[in-house]
Amino acid sequence: MTQSNKHFNTQAIHYGYSPLDSQGALVPPVFQTSTFVFPTAQYGADCFAGKQKGYFYSRISNPTLELLEKRLAQLENGEGAVVFSSGIGAITSSCWSLLQPGDELIADMTLYGCTFTFFNHGLAKFGVKIKHVDLTNLEKLKEAITEKTKLIFFETPANPNMRVSDIAKISEIAHQHNILVMVDSTYCSPYLQQPLKLGADIVVHSMTKYLSGHGDVTAGAIITTHALADKIRVEGLKDMTGACLSPHDASLILRGIKTLSIRMEQICKNAQRIAEYLTDNPKVETIHYPGLVSFPQYELAKRQMRLSGGMIAIELKGGIKVGREFLNRLNLFSRAVSLGDCESLAQHPATMTHATYSAEERQRHGISDGLIRLSIGLEDVDDLIADLKQALA
Ligand SMILES: Cc1ncc(COP(=O)(O)O)c(C=O)c1O
Repeated sequence: MTQSNKHFNTQAIHYGYSPLDSQGALVPPVFQTSTFVFPTAQYGADCFAGKQKGYFYSRISNPTLELLEKRLAQLENGEGAVVFSSGIGAITSSCWSLLQPGDELIADMTLYGCTFTFFNHGLAKFGVKIKHVDLTNLEKLKEAITEKTKLIFFETPANPNMRVSDIAKISEIAHQHNILVMVDSTYCSPYLQQPLKLGADIVVHSMTKYLSGHGDVTAGAIITTHALADKIRVEGLKDMTGACLSPHDASLILRGIKTLSIRMEQICKNAQRIAEYLTDNPKVETIHYPGLVSFPQYELAKRQMRLSGGMIAIELKGGIKVGREFLNRLNLFSRAVSLGDCESLAQHPATMTHATYSAEERQRHGISDGLIRLSIGLEDVDDLIADLKQALA
């Protein structure tokens, strides 16, 4: 049952799996094995040489991982996908495959801390030039492109300050110069945003977040064309990083994806209510949430995203000192990094997720010391608002 002609929710539950092919098991079995037995020695040799399709070693392929890859590709409107042991594993493996010494990578100003560090301290050490450009300004993007530019990378919305970049326009400019576009769509999941439909070449997800959705897995994925997925699997996953996902974790993600849309619908509803509450609170200096008309890229976010997401960034009057006090007073929100779980989380990027930037870099890249990041979960929204209210008081 491939269900390729069905709607998102049907595909999220059924795509790529037929129970009758697995002895009637309603839920896909977990192939918890590291290696596969070859029927003959020649079969094994042909598998390694790529002449025979089959499973031989779980770092490279495994039926549980393959089902997750097929389902992700379908939900993101891609041809192929590769899953990894973390979002950073997905980003490093892809970049090692796609870039060479002498190439240039254009990255947005705001990136998750470990992505920023990998680009500036990992890739840069191997001769790839990193140019950070404000991708909300397309003229600046055009000026930064040279014949050496091979990849444009951005998050939208960006972690942690929620800047939204125009996937369709950036892709159009990039393709005029034969440059690949890779979009980190972790904040949205495939339910809220589908970058490949808008012209991007590669989508990356930290599946640790909304896709698994229950805070019990670390995982990543890329979704792209067959050709790029094969290249990234062989060069990045097999030969360079080995950042492979465990079959058990893949099955937890397949389970999480079944409820992705209803989780996202409720999370977005909760986030919208909370953003509106915070807008009216006199203790809040600035609020960054794409669902508010005051958000600078409100129209673009509405065009590009189905709903406004579950992430909110705020700055409190009184800056970092007041921000720390606020975090310490929260009871229902947990003080923790990560996002996209059923539990609501709150954290301070400058000292937590983005502490890999130096203070000067944070200032240059628009990550203020007073910023607080909220990941809205699935608790009753009135209880969440009450917690915020008592912490702000
Ligand atoms: C936008 C974004 N991309 C990538 C990552 C890295 O994912 P992981 O922690 O699964 O390696 C994160 C982690 O927080 C993130 O927020």
